[in-house]
Amino acid sequence: KLARQYHLERGDTGRWRIVSRRQSYHGSTLGAMIVSGNVARRAPYLPLLAEWGHIAPCFCYHCPFDLRYPDCDIACAGDLETHLQESAPKDVAAFIFEPVVGATLGAAVPPEGYVARIAESCRNNGVLLIADEIMTGMGRTGRPFAVDHWGIEPDLILVGKGVASGYAPLGAVIVAPRVVEGISRGSGAFAHGFTYQAHPVSAAAGNAVLDYLESHNLFGRVAPAAAVLCSALASLESHSHIGEIRGLGLLLGIEFVRDKAKREPFAPSDRIAEKIHREAMAQGVLTYPIQGCVDGARGDHILLAPPFILSEEESNIISRALSSALARVFAN
Ligand SMILES: Cc1ncc(COP(=O)(O)O)c(C=O)c1O
Repeated sequence: KLARQYHLERGDTGRWRIVSRRQSYHGSTLGAMIVSGNVARRAPYLPLLAEWGHIAPCFCYHCPFDLRYPDCDIACAGDLETHLQESAPKDVAAFIFEPVVGATLGAAVPPEGYVARIAESCRNNGVLLIADEIMTGMGRTGRPFAVDHWGIEPDLILVGKGVASGYAPLGAVIVAPRVVEGISRGSGAFAHGFTYQAHPVSAAAGNAVLDYLESHNLFGRVAPAAAVLCSALASLESHSHIGEIRGLGLLLGIEFVRDKAKREPFAPSDRIAEKIHREAMAQGVLTYPIQGCVDGARGDHILLAPPFILSEEESNIISRALSSALARVFAN
């Protein structure tokens, strides 16, 4: 709605579409499901969902174009440029993406050049760039926002989860000055409201969390803690059913494959991610199991998103729990 209003106020009334990527997840409301590309989560509601346009995901381990970086010339970024160039009339208001894809692709990090290319395509085509940092934001990848790794400034940044660290329900949209100015030169107000918006208790919890993050330099703890966790997990990488351990900072994904050389997934009915999750949970390690990273149905992975204060001992506990979960699940 904010992107649409921005264009309306500037007289660009034909722009309304929000383009997004297949294999994405942006939330549960109808609007969020329309821009999401997650097959399973959308399936029951398809009759309710309009089609606004989805481009290819950026996912090197299962490249949608079956290409390899850097020879691919980042074809997935080119897909956005083509979509925007070919759209007639020029009706795209914004492009929304998750800089590091959390739930649906298991912490898939874009290759160098991707984020800069899509930012440039958006700018050149008069389209707002929306970074969904609900999972990656507030320091999780080692910088305040994941887009900071690539030095770009989106027009809108969505934050949730870490913004109040779960102590209170809180989400926010961070708006670039150029968008604020566009609206303030027009009507001067964003036409949108909820009963509980600017809720004082949630806002107080968010402020307290931000103060604590800053005063304890918690963002600064992420990169060193991630290095320790990655080295603790390194011993798992040679496992014949671990396809890839990937991620950025303290947002990591582990993908399980039936055939490592061919990157071939297990059958969804094997429920591998769920089984690993259950075995790790029995040893006190909470993971986030998901299926569908390959094509919406096939592909098993778990996400790890531990606290920024993770210690070396706790990293070792995670590694041991996963090692024993793998041994139990793949015993046969
Ligand atoms: C990337 C991303 N965007 C949006 C959402 C939706 O957030 P909420 O459940 O707070 O609406 C989530 C939730 O997991 C998410 O991971």
